[in-house]
Amino acid sequence: MCGIVGYIGDGQAVPILLESLKMLEYRGYDSAGISVFNGSLETYKIAGRIKNLEAIIPENMQGNIGIGHTRWATHGKPETRNSHPHLSSNISVVHNGIIENYMELKERLIDLGYEFKSETDTEVIAHLLHFNMNCSGKKCLLDSLAETIKELDGSYAIAALCADEPDIIAFARKNSPLVIGIGNGSNYAASDVTAFLKHTKEVIYINNNEIGFLKPDSIEIFDLDGNSVSRDTETIEWDLEAAEKAGYEHFMLKEIHEQPTSIQNTFAGKLSELEGTVTLDELYLTPEQIKHLRRATIIACGTSWNAGILGKYLFEKLTGIHTDIETASEFRYGNPVLCGEELTIAITQSGETADTLAAVRSSKSYGCRNIAITNVVGSTITRESDSVVYTRAGPEIGVAATKTFTAQLITLYMLAIHLGRARGVISAEEAKNLIVNIKRLPGQIQKILNRKEEIRECAEQFADMKDYFFIGRYLNFPIALEGALKLKEISYIHAEGYAAGELKHGPLALLTEETPVVAIATMGHTYDKILSNIKEVKARNSTVIAVANEDDTEIEKYVDVVLRIPPSHEMTSPVLSSVVLQLLAYYTALAKDCSIDKPRNLAKSVTVE
Ligand code: F6R
Repeated sequence: MCGIVGYIGDGQAVPILLESLKMLEYRGYDSAGISVFNGSLETYKIAGRIKNLEAIIPENMQGNIGIGHTRWATHGKPETRNSHPHLSSNISVVHNGIIENYMELKERLIDLGYEFKSETDTEVIAHLLHFNMNCSGKKCLLDSLAETIKELDGSYAIAALCADEPDIIAFARKNSPLVIGIGNGSNYAASDVTAFLKHTKEVIYINNNEIGFLKPDSIEIFDLDGNSVSRDTETIEWDLEAAEKAGYEHFMLKEIHEQPTSIQNTFAGKLSELEGTVTLDELYLTPEQIKHLRRATIIACGTSWNAGILGKYLFEKLTGIHTDIETASEFRYGNPVLCGEELTIAITQSGETADTLAAVRSSKSYGCRNIAITNVVGSTITRESDSVVYTRAGPEIGVAATKTFTAQLITLYMLAIHLGRARGVISAEEAKNLIVNIKRLPGQIQKILNRKEEIRECAEQFADMKDYFFIGRYLNFPIALEGALKLKEISYIHAEGYAAGELKHGPLALLTEETPVVAIATMGHTYDKILSNIKEVKARNSTVIAVANEDDTEIEKYVDVVLRIPPSHEMTSPVLSSVVLQLLAYYTALAKDCSIDKPRNLAKSVTVE
């Protein structure tokens, strides 16, 4: 996730672009840049925050048209050379999204003589645009952009400037947000209205597969066949503060709602349901090494550790590799028995958790190869691991991890399928079936989000309780742990997650009418077992809230409240259940008026042991 902006009008572009970029900094803040036309294209870009950019732009830099970008790295480290705008001769481009076929395009453009200065996918857009403008006679910027996007697979919101046509900003959109702001003698383009809300509340949302251009006093939009599209303007009702959160009351709620897109980004370009394969080019393991793997150890903390438990189950089922899961803070002090033939997998959304880094360093001293699963490009873990698989969920501002958790789960599915196929443990047919089900998840999550009011009602009903239990079996056990962790950290209600079969070995003593129990009772081979556990709980007069499939008509006979998920494969349904439990925690904390995005005593990145 990155932020793009464009400005054209009678004002000075530089201060407007910088101000807009600051409003978009929540979308990414590892580097930033602008291009402004002032007789020629002047471009400044730099790693780090917008204040670094401000420091390198000459005072009184003039120009009434420009584009800008704040980056959250996906391809290439957060360095100045990878910052946007990317240039090709007289063309400058900013982009938000992921170009899946960029390697193929890059090779073609290198053969055509183009020289690449960055590791990014975006630079291919700039060169392809330049090529299309000049390959058979001279084409205009808009026609060339239309040609260019026909060749792009993936997602994009693009804004482009060309020194030969300094009176327009061309734009295009597919699966990444783009909104136009209509000013008085000026127009704006941005990833999010917050960028220009100070100047105008009149907007046009650009739809997928639309392209167009801005002039100071006009906007033209076209479909991919070149037909002009007319669109009514909308008026934004939010104030600036609300708009930073795109209208959501909290970043956590926004991030929960981003999951249909964020997990799509996690698997974009990696899954082939036709072949039953997962492409993980970033994994530096040879087929021989994969075949000879005997044991894997997953190392993580907190929410990432919960994801790791699901990873253990997936690995053992799909790859046949014995897999242990270790809490990073305990790992080093427990005399781990490891040898060089083994794999460690460190899961950390921030890539900076001190305990996880220390555990990885310790495992490396035994000669283990480490794979890092992280959300943050260029974080410390990426520099200390042999391979890095990025979760690509976009920046997460709320302290409670939500979209990074589901992105970790998706990454673990992909890793397990990839290794399982390479080791011949699962067939192409089994892999295809799983891949189809992973690809269904974004739509299924959206259905849950559409029914969030049911979850809110449930949360409000039990918001005054002092203790909560969460139970699940097998793949749902880590989701029960995560449900309890989410609830306790943001609502301050004491909550415990248990493997459902463990209740009768102690915790049942705590159950009373005042102790709601959330049971994850989705379809699968442990369904009958969890029903028995639910009956044990009901016999102690506790309220049971079940998370169950939409088509399960049996469950309501045994429980008090049912929160539904769309019917899903047993292996992938934990992702859906976790979204339900995120919303349950969120609405409980909201009912209790807690500080949701910044819970007491907690921090987003725990860089101390
Ligand atoms: C809870 C949460 C924490 C983190 C933990 C590890 O919502 O976010 O439990 O999961 O601090 O952080 P990372 O994944 O950055 O290593």
